[in-house]
This record gives sequence, C-alpha cells and structure tokens, in this order.
Amino acid sequence: MNRIDLFLPIIFLMVLSHPGFSQSTVTKLQCEYLENPLGIDESHPRFTWQTVSEEPGLMQQAYQIIVGTDELDVSSGSGNVWESETIKSGTIPAVYQGPELNPFTRYYWCVRIQDESANWTDWSEVVWFETGLMDQHNWKGHWISDTHDYKLKPAPYFRKAFNTKKQILSARVYISVAGLYELSINGERIGDHRLDPTYTRFDRRNLYVTHDVTTNLRQGENVLGVLLGNGWYNHQSTAVWYFDQAPWRARPKFCMDLRITYADGSEETVSTGSDWQTALSPVIFNSIYTAEHYDARLEQAGWDSPGFKPEGWRNAMPTNAPSQNITAQVLHPIRHVTEIPAVSMTRQGEKTWLFDFGRNMAGVTRINVSGAEGTTIRLKHTERLDENGKADLSNIDVHYRPTDDSDPFQTDIFILRGEGEERFMPRFNYKGFQYVEVSSDQPLELTKESLTAYFMHSDVPPSGNVRSSNTTLNRAWEAANASYLSNLFGYPTDCPQREKNGWTGDAHIAIETGLYNFDGITIYEKWLADHRDEQQPNGVLPAIIPTDGWGYTWANGPDWTSTIAIIPWNIYLFYGDSRLLERCYDNIKRYVDHIDELYPSGITDWGLGDWVPVKSKTPKEFTSSAYYYVDALILSKTASILGKEADFKHYTALAEKIKKTVNEKYLNRETGLYGSGLQTELSVALYWGLVPQELQAKVAENLAKRVEADDKHIDVGLLGTKAILNALSENGYPELAWEVASQETFPSWGWWIVNGATTFYENWPLDAKSDISMNHIMFGEISAWYYKALGGIFPDEEQPGFKNILLNPNFVNGLDQFEATHESPYGTIVSSWKRKGRTVDYQVSVPANSTARLRLRGTKIEEKGKNLSKNTNLKILELDQEQAILELKAGDYRFLIR
Ligand code: BGC
Repeated sequence: MNRIDLFLPIIFLMVLSHPGFSQSTVTKLQCEYLENPLGIDESHPRFTWQTVSEEPGLMQQAYQIIVGTDELDVSSGSGNVWESETIKSGTIPAVYQGPELNPFTRYYWCVRIQDESANWTDWSEVVWFETGLMDQHNWKGHWISDTHDYKLKPAPYFRKAFNTKKQILSARVYISVAGLYELSINGERIGDHRLDPTYTRFDRRNLYVTHDVTTNLRQGENVLGVLLGNGWYNHQSTAVWYFDQAPWRARPKFCMDLRITYADGSEETVSTGSDWQTALSPVIFNSIYTAEHYDARLEQAGWDSPGFKPEGWRNAMPTNAPSQNITAQVLHPIRHVTEIPAVSMTRQGEKTWLFDFGRNMAGVTRINVSGAEGTTIRLKHTERLDENGKADLSNIDVHYRPTDDSDPFQTDIFILRGEGEERFMPRFNYKGFQYVEVSSDQPLELTKESLTAYFMHSDVPPSGNVRSSNTTLNRAWEAANASYLSNLFGYPTDCPQREKNGWTGDAHIAIETGLYNFDGITIYEKWLADHRDEQQPNGVLPAIIPTDGWGYTWANGPDWTSTIAIIPWNIYLFYGDSRLLERCYDNIKRYVDHIDELYPSGITDWGLGDWVPVKSKTPKEFTSSAYYYVDALILSKTASILGKEADFKHYTALAEKIKKTVNEKYLNRETGLYGSGLQTELSVALYWGLVPQELQAKVAENLAKRVEADDKHIDVGLLGTKAILNALSENGYPELAWEVASQETFPSWGWWIVNGATTFYENWPLDAKSDISMNHIMFGEISAWYYKALGGIFPDEEQPGFKNILLNPNFVNGLDQFEATHESPYGTIVSSWKRKGRTVDYQVSVPANSTARLRLRGTKIEEKGKNLSKNTNLKILELDQEQAILELKAGDYRFLIR
C-alpha cells in the first residue's frame, strides 16, 4: 500500500474543466487599473489583463504588446508607437516601455500571450488609454474666481459662450478645481461623477478631471457652465479640526481648457480667463461637512444654455493657482451608486414627516415636492431615533461647533419657487444617515416616494463575495461592505457624518477588508500620494490625511500612520504591483528613520494604543512598538524587492532589534505570556510575528486560554481586532476563532447585527456614551478574516497578486456552508465548501496563469484516496494523517474530505 492510500482522508473527485485543446483568450484589459482611462498623466502606464482558458493549468510565459495611434493598424497587429519584443514574463502588470508619450493623445493597444508550450493566443481586442496634459505647462487657461470673500455663502456660477464654425471631430474638457464643481454644456450636465475633484491637500496638489464632450458641442453657439462648490477647500462650517482655518482656504476657483479638434485637423482651445462671466447661484450655502441650502426662487432658467442674457453678471478674475502641482485624477469616481427608496414614511406632526430608508449609508437624498412660493423645507439626516422616535443627531454632532443656527448639522434647506413639482438634491455635500426628518413651515403633501436616497461612494468595482449558511455572518459581511464604502470618498474616512476625516489608523486596519472585497487600488494610490504631500521633511505624518495641519502632534504614532508602509505593502500583495511601494519607499524610510532617531532603544510609546477597547487596556508602548516593527520589516522587504542591498541589511537589523527589545520587555519566556496576557497583547504579538518561533505554540495556547476565560468573546480595541481572530485561526485554533467571530451576545460583531445594525459601529456596547458613530469601518477586519480563515484565500508574498494563491480553508464546526470568491488580478478565485454529514465537499477554482498551494486538513481516514496521486494537475507536496498539501494548477477542482 502506498503512502497516499494509507493516509489520505481526502478524495479528489475530478477536475471539472475539460481537458483538450486550448482556446485561450486574453480579456479584461486595463490600463492604470481602469478600462479605457481618459486623461492620464503617467509616463509609464501599467497594463493588466486576464486569460480565459479552457485548458487547465494554462500559464503565461511571455507577452507582447502593441501600442499605436491608429485603431485599425493596432487591430491588424501593428502599432506606430510601440511594438514590444516578446517579453519573457508570467506576471502582470506590464509597464509601457515605448517612446515618450504625447499629451492629448488616444493610444490604442492590445496584447497577446504565449503559454508554456510556446503557443501564442490571438491578439486581444483593441482597447485604449488617452493621455491628458502630461505636463502642467500644457495648461492654457487661467485660474479664475469670482473674487468674493470666502465667507460669502452662495456658490458661484460661471459661464462662457462661444461659437464653433466647423465640424467637430472630438472635444475634451480638462478641468481642475480648488473646491468642487459641476460642469454643464448647453444646459446639460456633463458626466455622472459626484464631488469631483476628490479631496487633496490643495496647496500641494490639485487634481484635474477629463471629460469627453464631443457629442455635447454643436456647430454654432455653445455655452459652458460651471457651478463651484466649497468642498474641503473653503470650509465654512466650524468644528474641532479647524478646517475653516486651513492654510489653503479661499473662495473656490478653477482652471479649464476645452480642446476641440475639428474634422479638418485644426485645433482650438477655449480656456478660462477674464472673459468668463460669473453670478451667484441658487445654492445659497454648501458645506461638505454639514449640508446644502438651496433657494429655488433664485434660479436663472437657461443660465448655461445659448440664448441666455446674462444680465447682472460680471467678469471673472484671473487668480493664482492653488498649487504648482496639477495632476490627473485617475481613479474610480464618486457616484450615486445605489438608489434606495424609503421603506416607510410617518407623519410626526402637521408639518413634520419621518422617512426611514431601512439601512444606514453615506450619501444624499432627493426630494420631489410641490408647494407655495417661499415654503422652507428642512431635511434633517440622522443615523438613529431618540426614545420618542424622533430623528436624533446627538451621536454625531458632538464635534461640531456652530457659531449660530444658520448651518444646522446634516440638514439641507430647500426654499420652494412655488411652480409645479420641484426637486432638490445637494450637489456639494453628503451625509451619514438612515432617517430623514422633513419639516416645513407651510403645509405640504408628501408621500413615501417624495424622498429618495442615494448611497454614494467611490465607485470601486466589487472584487469579492462571501456567502454562508449563517445569516448573521452574511449580514455582518454586508454591513462591513456598507461601512467600507460609506467611508470611501476618494480617500478612506473614519465615518461619513461626524468627521469625514481620513483617519490613518482606521484605514490600515481595514485595508484587507477593502481589498478582498473591492478593486480599490486607484483610490489607495491617490491617497498615498496625499501621504507624500503631507509628510514633513523630518518624516512625520499627520493622523488624518489630507489635513489642514491638524493631527501632526496628536494620534500620529506608528499605530496610526503606518499606513505609509502597510497600505503599499498590501497593494503589492493583492495586485503584485510594486509601483506604490517604489513611490513611497523614501517616505517609509524617512518615517522609520524618524522613529529610530526619537526612540533609539527600539521601543516607542508614540501613538494612541488599542483604541475603543471592550474593557482591558493594553500598554500603548507595546502596540506602538509592534507597528514600528511592522514598518521596519516592510521597509526591509521592500528594500530587497527594489534591490537596495544596504538598506535591506540595515532595516532587517533594525526590525530584529525592535523585536528583541519588545520581547525582552514584554515576553515572559517561562510562561509564554506577553505583558499581563491580555487578548490584544498575545494576539498582536502572534499576528505581527513578534513571537520567537519556539514559543509560538505556547503563546497561542495562552491566547486560547485567555479567550476561553473571557467566555469566548472579544476583549480588544481597534488594534486587537486586527489580530485576534487571525492569531487564533493561524495558530491552531480556527474553531475557537469561529466561536468568537460568530458570537451574537455582547461584545461581538454579531451583537450589533442581531440588534439591527446594517453598518459597523464605533463602539461595542449599543448604549455607549462616547465614540458612537454607527458607521465606522475600523472594526471591519472580520470581513477579511472570512476570506482568510474560512475561505482560506491568502496572497503569497513570494508570488504576489495571487500569482500563487495560498489556500488554507478551515471547515469549522457549526458552519455548514461557506463560499468566498475573490476577483484577483489573474481571475476569479473560488473557495467553496459544504458539509454533508461527516463529509465536506470542497470546490476550488484557480484562475488561468496562476497556481495555488492548497492545504487540506482531514482528521479521520474513512476511505482510501484513489485518484489524488493519479491526477496530473495535482502535485502532492506533503501528506500525512493530519493534512495534505497540494500544488494546484489553474482549473476547477472538487474534493471530498472526511
Ligand atoms: C475617529 C476614529 C479615529 C480616532 C483616533 C476618532 O474620532 O472617528 O475612527 O481613529 O478618532 O483618535
């Protein structure tokens, strides 16, 4: 009897894919992680694609890319810009290596790949990317403003009429704004983005957006209309972070070039300048932080259309540019992604109504209503109701410091014009809410349909899905997604209501939850550029990014601002792309060097510690030093990836020193306890790799005992939630981890869910008195944990981007069915299991051009494994009574495990 027959508790059933001849196709082409991106500034854009193959085990060994300006040529296999050699590589992304790219140019491209038997696929479909300005010296327009004082509340309109005499071939608008904008041409709004451009540190970098407006222009008179909002640029509301005193604050301004290419090949640019006209709009107040007020009586019909007489309008004034760095916005924009009808409407008074949208979210509402002229309607948006069932802001207005009552928190004000049905929806604000109290100073007729909500966020494509037989798990996963998205607005935020701040700590804790579930790379690359903009010469980073200056002296220790290392590292793991690490390398280094300078011992207490704990408090020196270790380690690994030998040695030694110092101070080698043996202490040490190898089992056992003693409930804060479940499941206690993760009594995620949460909260008790936002993602690691511990899907540091997938599922007792899918750069990974009596039916899909290393645990031998060793797609690396470790080629597999 051979070894396999003897010990194998796993039956390999079949390879589901059909063997035979390959018909592989290259699909899902993206440039800079977007489909056909318009207006990029990157001199070396990155290309990615996936391969679809009927053939199990397909691997790319080389590729070829063609880039050209003529679509037909490219589709027939030749490019006038770059025809790459055969590039020997099995991985993506590929980086453009052709001659310097021109601005304002559409480049078509396609790719083909060669498999390991040297067969080429056909050329892929032809797609494109289009360059924007490429160099800011290519701007022609002036920055203009209406020059009113920044305290003036109404938002300004700008318009420009011009004539086109010839036939238009193509037209693009390039628009950069300090503040926010809505652009219209001939009375029609351009694009479906919201809150553009996304927030940056305005005095360091400004983003411009490109619009294809070819079909919006007509021969003859055209009118360009721009409405400017304040956004974070001109923060008129007052709160504890002093954004009203931001160094960049001014009346919003913008710069725009409309480049028209005519059919005869000639070009014309219509730019911003003093010939633009400006007037105040009916948006009588707008604050990204609080709300928007609109007086429909001030509407000027046709202001952005030909034929309008701009009476009383004056000329705009050229003004200084907000920064000397104006770059393309290349990301998934903010949109009104989901329209949500009200689930109920109740009349709470003669002129007061309460709308309930059934779920918590970030976004806006739109009201459709008719009423008498001058009727003033207030729409108060809240996350919860008070004991009398009234809309209640008291959990989220705590940091707001209004100076009068003209700017009520999260309350839009709409004044009717009094003509037919009117509608209002804010353009330059969003809120966090589930309920809206509508009140009016005059009688109105409202129905449940009068108000519609829009869930807004950066419109990142979903890249993961979780489904299980446990309803609470499913709902928790959905709630985590809702909180993650509610906190993604071109930068990750802590909450969509009370702050909207780019809190660093919250974001690095949530990075895996983000990346398992959503294709977020474009947002994080933008946000890490914000980090680079904000870093002080001495290496210090602020606690919130972007910032007006607040947070450089509080909360910005390594436990929070390790975003600078942790986020690029995770992008590398999830996308196999080292560009962000490369771009942030010096910044990580300056940050680590700064801590080293301040804390030469290797131990630091700089930070906030285990924020919002259940009860026990872990010393913050311990957690901050752990994060300092993480940063030094990521830096040393990055140095090695980037071939920086001396740095690699230096930071490896530094990481070792930190680990040694932490262990000397906190680890009791006799007992295997860290500090006083709290959940956060033990799990942070295990999860972040501080524990000496020989003591790992002991520390894990101590953690398990601690958790048992805590009644299998969590006793952690923010930093502990990142570690606790993973530390258990990755160190031999997956069953216990699941028991903790699936609790439905206090304190637990399930406790929130069974009490009706549709988003994650900021605090564990439902009746906590402070830190009580109902839409925080900071405790969101559990969603990533579902993928990792239950689905077993991990990226492999050695072959990142899921080129090789580490599959390590745990078929935990008490859960009958679980499935996780993740859309990796190479394709869809599926890890799905179902318990049938004492057997687990496990199905896996490994996408083409990737491999997996699967570890399966079976506890009992009930049947001989017959086919496992015979299948050529499976390579057995290890096999004993406990487990099998297999190497899987691309394909679909099914196993029965007993
Ligand atoms: C935020 C948190 C943040 C914390 C740090 C809070 O006000 O909402 O999520 O991490 O401050 O101090």
